[in-house]
Amino acid sequence: MKLTDTEKMMLEGRNGLAVQKAMELLVRYGDALGAERLVDTNNVCGAVTAPTPEKLEMVKIKGLEKALHAGFSEMNLDSDVVIEVPRVKVYTCQLIQRFGPDTAGLHDGSRELLDLQADSDKFFGARGVHIMATCTPYQVGNVPVKGEHCAWMESSAVVYCNSVLGARTNTEGRESTGAASLTGKIPYWGYHLTENRFGTHLIEVDVPTDSMMDWGLLGYYVGEIIQDEIPVLRGQLSQADLAKLKHFGAAAASSGGVEMYHIPGVTPEAPTIESAFGNREPVQTLRYGRQERRTAYENLNASAKDRNVDFIMLGCPHDSIEQVWQAARLLQGKRLHTGTELWIHTPRALRELADRSGYTRIVEEAGGHILSDSCPAISRLMPKGTSVVATDSAKQAHYLPAIMGVQTWFGSLEDCIQAAITGKWAAGLD
Ligand code: F3S
Repeated sequence: MKLTDTEKMMLEGRNGLAVQKAMELLVRYGDALGAERLVDTNNVCGAVTAPTPEKLEMVKIKGLEKALHAGFSEMNLDSDVVIEVPRVKVYTCQLIQRFGPDTAGLHDGSRELLDLQADSDKFFGARGVHIMATCTPYQVGNVPVKGEHCAWMESSAVVYCNSVLGARTNTEGRESTGAASLTGKIPYWGYHLTENRFGTHLIEVDVPTDSMMDWGLLGYYVGEIIQDEIPVLRGQLSQADLAKLKHFGAAAASSGGVEMYHIPGVTPEAPTIESAFGNREPVQTLRYGRQERRTAYENLNASAKDRNVDFIMLGCPHDSIEQVWQAARLLQGKRLHTGTELWIHTPRALRELADRSGYTRIVEEAGGHILSDSCPAISRLMPKGTSVVATDSAKQAHYLPAIMGVQTWFGSLEDCIQAAITGKWAAGLD
């Protein structure tokens, strides 16, 4: 890879050992990808704080500070040499992490790991990492502008960043984002290049796609069929909004590997259908009608048989404040069925807004909880004894059966709240 003089100096160690290790990693990574050069970034979303049982063991042996320096060296810089973690060089945010001490008692997670999460927040916060602790940084202030080069992890955030915001990122990893945070550089390849951002497949939507559930089903179908290509959607689509696009992208990124999509007239790089395809012909045109919608629904509900529901999971990707408000309105004056748990996940900054607006009180009076920082799939934690889950998220319905070994029902927000109140899954597809 061709390096600038400044980058060469970083690689030679003139900016310290940590920056040198970070630059060595980026050069190895860029060379492997065939990137010609690096590009500057001032927007990194990575994962540095999450405690693991291995980190906890290290803390017990070496003490907190030494263990976190060693953990970052190994897991975020791929370095055998332990370096002292310096302050980050560029704007860096922590994505979703593990649950913290305020969730103790809601699950049977280790108290030591919950406390280590809080200690880890302080350690990395002191080094300039913004502890947003969410998979939706764009909901709490990290909103890169069109054309901005970013280094983000987390598939649902990446697809939102590329498609809805028009900023540019590949799906980075823990190591490359760690290195980017110390150097402000990332390999220039993939979605950073304009020629790789045009649509490949036209999806003709022949069935009304209106609710958040409809958009989730559409995303799940599209991802399964086209995998990691770039769909362009046209047809019977309702007015898109943040929640619908968030769910569409998250679903398409989990059933396939979609990192970018276009909706002409809606997403910023597609004012017209011709511009969405870069004036080229689509590789293929696919139709999404009633049968395709039903297939997506059946696939998402394939793991579920038992209609007695233990646990309702909302907020994957983390809920917007509007979604929390909608859930609170449906729960107002109601009580959850005995033995049924409800967790609503939202970024901590929005949790504060939910508290002030009275939504948290409504949810708690009904017997539910609003949680922040994590989710069951990432923390591997659910209410004790859960065997049947219901969710309004196609992404969560895709992962939970495999990750947690539970049956999972997928449906609308209304279906899920009804299940929370009755303890039964009664929904189906119209
Ligand atoms: Fe976010 Fe967890 Fe879903 S990371 S996208 S809430 S699986």
